Amino acid sequence: MTLIFAHRGSSDAFPENTMKAFIEAEKEQADGIELDVQLTRDLEPVVIHDERVDRTTNGTGYVKDFTYKELRKLDAAYRNKTIVTKEPIPSLREVFEWLSGNHLLCNVELKTGKIPYKGIEEIVVSLIREYQLEDRIIVSSFNHYSIIHLYRLAPNIEIAPLFMEGLYMPWIYAKSIRAKGFHPHYRFATNEIIKASMENGIAVRPYTVNNEKELHRLFQIGCSAVITDEPAKAFRIRKQFTPS
Ligand code: G3P
Ligand code: CA
Repeated sequence: MTLIFAHRGSSDAFPENTMKAFIEAEKEQADGIELDVQLTRDLEPVVIHDERVDRTTNGTGYVKDFTYKELRKLDAAYRNKTIVTKEPIPSLREVFEWLSGNHLLCNVELKTGKIPYKGIEEIVVSLIREYQLEDRIIVSSFNHYSIIHLYRLAPNIEIAPLFMEGLYMPWIYAKSIRAKGFHPHYRFATNEIIKASMENGIAVRPYTVNNEKELHRLFQIGCSAVITDEPAKAFRIRKQFTPS
């Protein structure tokens, strides 16, 4: 069965990368969540997509220049039309604490592409170990050096490279870095690539799939997973392909 990962939580309707969006994803029966991790000045891993807080909160500046205490004062629901109450930027610890009480999978994306947060891999590994989530976490990144470093620290934690482009035989590349899967932009997840990868034991989890036709195609072909902003819609479409 194709798994459904809620991209930044159920981010179509709820403020992305907040506990509200993650809790909603669980309600909408997603199999897992996807989230983005940056590091504060005092080295707390926090869940926010951009290097700066400007787009998603009422603050301004780089995450790396805030202490965690300072960052918590910002409102991550500020720009959302449906949420009127304040929502803080979650720490990764807070999300892991919540995951301890459910069975969801979690795709942790290390945002090390622009700012190479020194030590982020060690910090994230130790948190995964503390919460014993090794079997439920997939760590991905556009910065493949980052996930390879993480794999060397913790070979029992699954890694997955993210791609924006059409690599040739990506399953061979994935195998070469000891990844059990890869996360391509959905435009590059052709049926041929998905079939060949899965036949070679490599999972394919395309992002960010909100288009009904594309969801249909990926469920029909039995793709390993989809990463979507709209888990409820994906769940509804997937039902057509799974016997009740
Ligand atoms: O993990 C898939 C996707 O989240 C990668 O792109 O920019 O949404 O983090 P982005
Ligand atoms: Ca992401």
